[in-house]
Amino acid sequence: PRPVEALSIWEDARAMLTKARAEGIETAHERLQQQTPHCKFCELGVSCRNCTMGPCKITPKAPRGVCGADADVIVARNFGRFVAGGSAGHSDHGRDLVEVLESIVEGSTSDYRITDEAKLRRIAAELGVTVEDRSTMDIAAELIDIFYADFGSRKKEVAFLCRVPAKRRELWDRLGMTPRGVDREIAEMMHRTHMGCDNDAPNTLIHAARTALADGWAGSMIGTELSDVIFGTPQPSMSHANLAAIKKDKVNILVHGHNPVVSEMILAAAREPALIAEAEAMGAQGINVAGLCCTGNELLMRQGIPMAGNHLMTELAIVTGAVEAVVVDYQCIMPSLVQIAGCYHTLFIDTAQKARFTGAVHFDIHPHNALEQAREIVRMAVQAYARRDASRVQIPGEPVNIMTGFSNEAVIAALGGSLDPLVQAIAAGDIRGAVGIVGCNNPKFQQDSMNVGLAKELIKKDILVLVTGCVTTAAGKAGLLLPEAAEQAGPGLRKICGALGIPPVLHYGSCVDNSRILQLCAALANALGVDISDLPVGASSPEWYSEKAAAIGLYAVASGIYTHLGHPPHILGSQTVTDLAVSGLEDLVGASFFIEPDPVKAALAFDLRIRAKRKALGLGE
Ligand code: SF4
Ligand code: FE2
Repeated sequence: PRPVEALSIWEDARAMLTKARAEGIETAHERLQQQTPHCKFCELGVSCRNCTMGPCKITPKAPRGVCGADADVIVARNFGRFVAGGSAGHSDHGRDLVEVLESIVEGSTSDYRITDEAKLRRIAAELGVTVEDRSTMDIAAELIDIFYADFGSRKKEVAFLCRVPAKRRELWDRLGMTPRGVDREIAEMMHRTHMGCDNDAPNTLIHAARTALADGWAGSMIGTELSDVIFGTPQPSMSHANLAAIKKDKVNILVHGHNPVVSEMILAAAREPALIAEAEAMGAQGINVAGLCCTGNELLMRQGIPMAGNHLMTELAIVTGAVEAVVVDYQCIMPSLVQIAGCYHTLFIDTAQKARFTGAVHFDIHPHNALEQAREIVRMAVQAYARRDASRVQIPGEPVNIMTGFSNEAVIAALGGSLDPLVQAIAAGDIRGAVGIVGCNNPKFQQDSMNVGLAKELIKKDILVLVTGCVTTAAGKAGLLLPEAAEQAGPGLRKICGALGIPPVLHYGSCVDNSRILQLCAALANALGVDISDLPVGASSPEWYSEKAAAIGLYAVASGIYTHLGHPPHILGSQTVTDLAVSGLEDLVGASFFIEPDPVKAALAFDLRIRAKRKALGLGE
């Protein structure tokens, strides 16, 4: 086996990997080794299973599948479906929030409520809904119709395109990239990639971009905005991160997945005095809820709940032996967690009909029964505490403090009510530009080496960093989410952070909250009267693994944001598709992908790009 030092940069991960090995527990790292070397055809994207004349794979001797599709067509089709999968994930998540809001308006739930009425009214007004002299519920009802319609086929464009700079919208119209409806674009992607439909790789990729834009500017954006409306818009607050967020003397419940709808209820139940008293009666010092992945991010942003870890920490968190329950909703939940939980007293509880795990305890959670079910789950976790084996408990290290809660609303408030001071700081060169670092872990990389390495390199160059998703915990554990981290930044960024009391790396939320970054870019572009592609900004997903990350990367590029990936998607088997991704898109949409496994070199590429964009805006370097 590879030394644990090679697998992760973190002491807590290394300690748990060592413990897992001693206890005979397999993790993603061992399974990756079993799967290596991967199938070369699949890696290059030139294998196709879209019909039963195949499966086919492209080789020098067999350059076309049975139907005649060549490498370009097969790679484009595979990538298109990959992006459709990711867009479906974020967008179905967004739809779940519309359904919760609908339950609130219908009065079929009392577990959820509208927490940020002002935001609801602001969004409604932005979308052309009359808000004067109308009740909040009335406005909400109309907003629900607008958002449901955004998923359908009756619109020419999704509602939040009103936020996009006019130049960009014209460009999308010209290219046939304007997202009309979330489900429509996803369904059309599946249609186009059926045998005998879209057999022109660039054309397929344009629709892939449209599908991704439906995610970013509709599915994800609806998810973010309605989560704020229902659970509150994040405000800066302090919390902490790493496996020491798991407490030795408490009942530990880890929430994992993406949507705050269930995890907020688990947290609410865990804070109820009666359940805390039950925990104390079991000999525990209370109930501790900590987060994993994005549902963790959601609770961290709004409730200050600590992060136990990101993607590659999810298996290792259970290995501490101190977790009573892992409660999951959907996405990025490794099915292996069921087996690992089975090696301890840990309950693995799934809560969504669309994300069930063989061997899990299932709770069918809906808006009308959520809190009651959550109480039952917390009670089960409390009872599991009695079965904890103290001799197998090992919680490594000390937690690291983090600052969180940077919604755009919070940032604008911190700036004194408008984006002007940020625009001025960018114009003056104190903040030379900004890069969003987002996404995942992937066992193909030393965990978080690139996520952290890139963030550190960028802030040195006076480039503000925004993080979401699994990069949050990485940046947090590295101490970068604290105002003190400004000491590691260049002089301009250090000055601004010092004046505002903010970190040089801002936690912007979960993966759907990349829509906050889109919105910020659009607002900056509108403030400057330019297109998003003119801004000195970039995006990166250094250690990405998922279909969702591909969708995010593609909507970023299609929105005009230069985007870095630490490794390529499965497209290298087509020169046409690869060229389009890393250069051709530049001519079409004013941005492209670049692939770079070295964080120092990636930061240099961003630096060059930002320099050029600043110069073009007449801002000096
Ligand atoms: Fe082969 Fe074409 Fe069928 Fe794909 S669609 S499996 S390339 S025959
Ligand atoms: Fe995520």
